[in-house]
Amino acid sequence: MKSFYITTAIDYANGSPHLGHAYEKVLTDVIARFRRQMGDKVYFLTGTDEHGQKVQASARKQGVAPQEYVDRVSAEFKALCARLDISNDDFIRTTESRHKTVVRDILQKLFDRGEIYQAEYRGFYSTRQEQFLQEKDRLPDGSWPEIYGEVTQIVEKNYFFRLQKYQDWLIDFLKTHEDFIFPKYRHKQVLEFLKEPLNDLCISRPKERLEWGISLPFDENYVTYVWFDALLNYYSAVADKGLWPADFNVIGKDILVPPHAVYWPIMLHASGLPPPKALLVHGWWLQGGAKMSKSTGEAVSPLSFIDQFGVDAFRYFLIREMNVGQDSEFTVEQFLVRYNSELANNLGNLVNRTLNMTTRFAAGVLPAAEVTEEPERELHELWAKTRAEVVPLCENFQFHTALERGMAFVNATNAYIEKRAPWKLGKSTEAKDQALLRTSLATMAEALRLAVALMLHVTPSTTRKINEVLGYTPGALWLDELVWGAKLNGARVAPALVLFPRPTPPAKPV
Ligand code: ME8
Ligand code: MG
Repeated sequence: MKSFYITTAIDYANGSPHLGHAYEKVLTDVIARFRRQMGDKVYFLTGTDEHGQKVQASARKQGVAPQEYVDRVSAEFKALCARLDISNDDFIRTTESRHKTVVRDILQKLFDRGEIYQAEYRGFYSTRQEQFLQEKDRLPDGSWPEIYGEVTQIVEKNYFFRLQKYQDWLIDFLKTHEDFIFPKYRHKQVLEFLKEPLNDLCISRPKERLEWGISLPFDENYVTYVWFDALLNYYSAVADKGLWPADFNVIGKDILVPPHAVYWPIMLHASGLPPPKALLVHGWWLQGGAKMSKSTGEAVSPLSFIDQFGVDAFRYFLIREMNVGQDSEFTVEQFLVRYNSELANNLGNLVNRTLNMTTRFAAGVLPAAEVTEEPERELHELWAKTRAEVVPLCENFQFHTALERGMAFVNATNAYIEKRAPWKLGKSTEAKDQALLRTSLATMAEALRLAVALMLHVTPSTTRKINEVLGYTPGALWLDELVWGAKLNGARVAPALVLFPRPTPPAKPV
């Protein structure tokens, strides 16, 4: 069994989760489930990033101790994972001692190797971004860009990590590892950034300024910079499991350069560890053209959608709508369009018709297909084509296109039903019509089984429910489940299942 280790970014515990966080978890979960279906031994990690200025500030604002504050927020993120049906194997919190121990060990090791040194720092500091700024960050009029919030001048002794020393190594690494970043075009963006000389990274914060962090093992007057702490979660969670390096660190595009594409591989390399095998970089969910975020205060809460439409409708929408890597505008209207047309009408109708007609014309027991004529042949061929396309699409993270193909197949199955019109065949007593009726029932049921098998990693509980009402227990090998066969012969179906009730207007009977 091939092992496959995948992570999400760990979310800042400084506010409630929004749709952007939910997306990253669902996307990573879809990949993890897909790899498991393909036979890999998957380890899936997510968690929360709990130290730093912003967390300390948020806790203060609420008048609670930072630990109490992060316990609360982290629990919210954990609860979201459960509601989203996320199949993570572990949830790491950077305030856990298993994490802190590893961070301190690595800091000590880098210090002993001379990769960390002390120097006086003079500079302009952005509290909002938790980063020192440079002259080149100023706007032409000398002011600081809005995104930095309040900028103050600071002079203090600090510890620095020798980033610059590894600049050439990193450039060479990127040039020889073309698959390090998905999508590929982001590679260029990193190389572009590396055309400018790197500065060494200030990795300490004096405790007078920031208490809420991991103390430097070689100078307890300081805590470590939040990114140095946070990035190491991917390693600390599995340090004793032999799973490093990760196959994928899944992240949003805002945290690629410099944290994940520059600091992270260099930190690992300088510590004698290999970089992750790849970074998977997704785009943003936008609202009114701007990144949905905690600070705008209008971010969409995933929970209200799950409550109203069910977890699978929400997962389906996120994956169907977003082309991994690009941005997507989120609107309730677009959610409803997909919900109504793809889930309630297209898939929902196929489920209803299969169950209704099998109950009405075959006493609820699925017959065998007896005839293969043009309509059946066409559907079999479309299935063969769909199956051949979908697996490679998923392997290349084109889940949105894979779902589109799946829905096109469902659509074609509904068209097949129209063509065969079992309700007419049911009125005839001719042997040929009866054989066609049995064939059409078997064909629509098998097509439905295949379509929902194809969606298993996106809509796991819907697939399970549909298998249940089809009286079917799937086998262990997912790829075998994708073969058109006669697996449902003799299965006893349930009379009805309401999967995706229409919000407005109410669902009409078929
Ligand atoms: O950056 N659309 O935490 P975070 C899509 N703690 N993805 C979004 C998004 C949006 N509108 N908003 C946020 C951090 N994300 C650090 C990470 S990793 C060692 C430390 C994504 O809570 C964002 O791109 O601000 C990131 O990958 C994740 O949510 C957490 O963001
Ligand atoms: Mg952020």
